[in-house]
Amino acid sequence: MTMADSSVRQRLQKTKSPSSPQQLSSQPDGVEDQSSRVISLLDVLRVIITLIGVSCALSYYLTSGASLFWNYQPWFANTAQIVQWWAGPLQLTPDQLALYNGTDPKKPIYLAINGTIFDVTEGRHTYGPGGSYEVFAGRDATRAFVTGCFLEDRTGDLRGAEDIYIPIDDPAEDISSGARKTRAEKERREARKRVLQEVNKWEAFYRNHKKYFEVGKLVGVPEYTGDPPKLCDSAQKGRPKRKNMKKARDADEAPGKPVH
Ligand SMILES: *[C@@H]1O[C@H](CO)[C@@H](O)[C@H](O)[C@H]1NC(C)=O
Ligand SMILES: *[C@@H]1O[C@H](CO)[C@@H](O)[C@H](O)[C@H]1NC(C)=O
Repeated sequence: MTMADSSVRQRLQKTKSPSSPQQLSSQPDGVEDQSSRVISLLDVLRVIITLIGVSCALSYYLTSGASLFWNYQPWFANTAQIVQWWAGPLQLTPDQLALYNGTDPKKPIYLAINGTIFDVTEGRHTYGPGGSYEVFAGRDATRAFVTGCFLEDRTGDLRGAEDIYIPIDDPAEDISSGARKTRAEKERREARKRVLQEVNKWEAFYRNHKKYFEVGKLVGVPEYTGDPPKLCDSAQKGRPKRKNMKKARDADEAPGKPVH
């Protein structure tokens, strides 16, 4: 046996021997151990709770009393949304929707886009009286979303709204009537698609917004008949310009034009 071996064995015996009698006899020691562990766990909890408390207090102070959670909005913080979810989807007629126009501070603010109603109460500054999007409150003004004509187009009637994407026809343009008709049809088809995209984009905006949420559907909307609404002046002015083909061709055929 080497020196090293024996010292290792001695050490093993030393560490072993005091512990074994204890294991046999000292039930109280074990209890004490456990309770000291419980106390330290409580201490940790106490520290965590204190830290959360300090964080809330700091947040409350720094956000001027607006939030205990540094303006973080947990899903359970929006009680209106939970109440709404519990109540199920609303079905409002245009007349009923009009009551949620933001003038009564005790009522939520609703707007509709393409027949789907959203709660925008959290945006009271924007949608309430005097807000920049006030015109959308309490109604379906889908047309205004597309045309940008807030004053004129407070309606869900989208007939003819696609005109804003279609160039104004130039009667002097040198093009056969057949080609003109085909082009007009193609342009209208594509313009309608863009209107659809635009409406879907806005609907998705409200649907995915952190503070706004869907509450139901607009019902009993009368069918839009009669003449379609005219494009408002600003939308009419914003229509794309068609490059004047005739003039362009004349220029191409003009003598002395450099060839490149
Ligand atoms: C706006 O809503 C209030 C009730 O909240 C209602 O009395 C008022 O008539 C509504 N205004 C319009 C223009 O519908
Ligand atoms: C509006 O919603 C209906 C379904 O309710 C849908 O068929 C239609 O394409 C939507 N219109 C637009 C412009 O998004």
